[in-house]
Amino acid sequence: MKTVKIVPARLGLSGKLSFPGDKSLSHRAVIFGSLAEGRSHFTNVLPGEDCVCTRKAFEAMGVRISSSKDQTELTIDGVGLKGLKAPKSALYLGNSGTSMRLLMGVLAGQDFSATLTGDSSLSGRPMRRVAEPLGRMGAKITGKDNGNFAPITVTGASLQGISYHLPVASAQVKSALLLAGLYAKGTTRVTEPEKSRNHTEKFLKFFGASVNEDGLSVSVQAGKELKAKSFAIAGDISSAAFFMAAALLMPGSAVEFRSILNNPTRTGIVEILKRMGVKFVFDLDTKGEEGPEPTINFMLTSQALKLQAFEIKKSELPSLIDEIPILCVLATQAKGTSIIHDAGELRVKETDRINSMVSQLTRMGADIKSEGNSIIIQGPTPLKGAVVSSFKDHRTAMSLIVAGLIADGETTLEDIECISTSFPNFFDLLTTLKVSFEILNK
Ligand code: S3P
Repeated sequence: MKTVKIVPARLGLSGKLSFPGDKSLSHRAVIFGSLAEGRSHFTNVLPGEDCVCTRKAFEAMGVRISSSKDQTELTIDGVGLKGLKAPKSALYLGNSGTSMRLLMGVLAGQDFSATLTGDSSLSGRPMRRVAEPLGRMGAKITGKDNGNFAPITVTGASLQGISYHLPVASAQVKSALLLAGLYAKGTTRVTEPEKSRNHTEKFLKFFGASVNEDGLSVSVQAGKELKAKSFAIAGDISSAAFFMAAALLMPGSAVEFRSILNNPTRTGIVEILKRMGVKFVFDLDTKGEEGPEPTINFMLTSQALKLQAFEIKKSELPSLIDEIPILCVLATQAKGTSIIHDAGELRVKETDRINSMVSQLTRMGADIKSEGNSIIIQGPTPLKGAVVSSFKDHRTAMSLIVAGLIADGETTLEDIECISTSFPNFFDLLTTLKVSFEILNK
């Protein structure tokens, strides 16, 4: 087990920061590049373990993928929608829910069976939400507890399009159904209670599929081949969020954020920060759109003293679902009572993030509690260094490191290996910013 000791930061953060490619986009680049006809080339791909799992799964199904040494550039020789081959053994997907759920959708339309496995966290995450509608489309899906938990075996079939109302907004479930829809007879339509990230819709359009977005519904029809594409993956706003919070909270900071994904289904944190009173300097001139998704540059300076408490409604959650842990840290420093309503989906992420953030920030002296699935945080409260655990969850880990930077005294965070699932150069970036920390092997 690796542990990090964080020494409270004395200097503010300053510099221009670029971030690894967005995790959601990197998974989809591998999936769409593999299923397209022709050669795709992607740069700024996230080399995190989650995306490497997706890549290895497609390689195991016969797709040729070559990469630069640092794995941020991928060249994929797509095999077309019907070109995948049965893997020789089970596909191991590590910690990655996105890999497992999206692959279930792809596999539903193949003429072979494949088994998907993962680590202990992934093996405890619910898969029935995908298995059930895919079953209605005609796929045969088996797994522990009636197809709910990995190992999951998907036996593809000739699929029939369905019209499905998602009980919970989930981009992973929506994406699995849309991918299966590429193989189904008729139209596959998915309607969500709230809009979750729409990257799959954008990729479908960009790669040439027949797709139609209409408010909370999206439909896809089979029949068109996907065509190979080449582009740079936008920087991950969910990774940038930790440094945005650190820049806001550490006195004397001024940080430029470059080429960050700018998609309203993902930038909910920007709206919440504005509500907290944060002033952004946006560099509108250099807003870019090279691939299916636009990017933006902006600058943040330290603004800790003026942060106001916020409330997040259930309908706003999907656009910032991965940012709740770091928003909890920000709320400890904001004036007033912050409330995150009805965040039950956090209980089925890589760990139960309501439990991980409430228990660990309490150890650091925060005034934070849960009521049912809501989180209530009173601020501002000075944080104190403590021994805390990541619960093997990357976003809990990075949020607690930011808390450690503004705490009084040293913070020791256990189980930091998980950070490499989504942000392998996180500690390198801290070093560039002259933040002191020490990594210990136990
Ligand atoms: C993701 C969707 C989200 C998010 C996850 C990545 C995706 O999960 O939490 O990190 O790439 O589709 P939901 O399925 O809850 O939307």
